Amino acid sequence: MKLVRLATRADLLPVVSRWVVEAFAEPGTPVDARVDALREMFSESAYPFSLVAIDDDGTPLGCVHGVESELDDRPELQPFIAALYVELPWRGRSVGSQLLAAAERECAAAGFSEAYLCAWNDPRWYERRGWQVIAARVGDRGVPLMRKALAPAK
Ligand SMILES: CC(C)(COP(=O)(O)OP(=O)(O)OC[C@H]1O[C@@H](n2cnc3c(N)ncnc32)[C@H](O)[C@@H]1OP(=O)(O)O)[C@@H](O)C(=O)NCCC(=O)NCCS
Repeated sequence: MKLVRLATRADLLPVVSRWVVEAFAEPGTPVDARVDALREMFSESAYPFSLVAIDDDGTPLGCVHGVESELDDRPELQPFIAALYVELPWRGRSVGSQLLAAAERECAAAGFSEAYLCAWNDPRWYERRGWQVIAARVGDRGVPLMRKALAPAK
């Protein structure tokens, strides 16, 4: 498995858009519109970023984004690690853990000493990876807000 930056792989925009829409968007959100949004959101700059995990044969396995605050009422909280997603057949093989760890490293390399995320899945998954719940319910969906102090970039 290796990680590539979405900004350098336009061919992966459709699959990443599908994942993000299926897993996180309101039902009925058009995938095509998300392709354009992702292309605009992620340039080749270090941050914000989107990383895609691909298998040795080029099969896309999952993705993660590093973005500015996901919370309209807390714009000072950044970076946010968002859209962590692994295709169903590949789950449970540590792809998600590797994507999360890579996103943390990218945030540290961009100069941040801590990162945030909204836990759409079980927050204990993140707690096992060093994250802490700092608010029980935030945003429209009322999900836990989590924070992690990042190891300094090497
Ligand atoms: C959350 C998610 C990214 C994790 O990806 P993953 O590649 O399965 O992650 P890992 O393999 O690193 O860890 C999976 C955990 O479940 C366990 N597991 C075992 N078999 C599994 C399976 N078939 N499917 C899922 N998890 C499994 C693993 O042992 C591991 O447990 P641990 O936390 O005690 O280490 C993935 O489940 C997903 O895409 N979910 C839907 C989208 C989502 O909720 N994203 C989070 C947004 S905040």
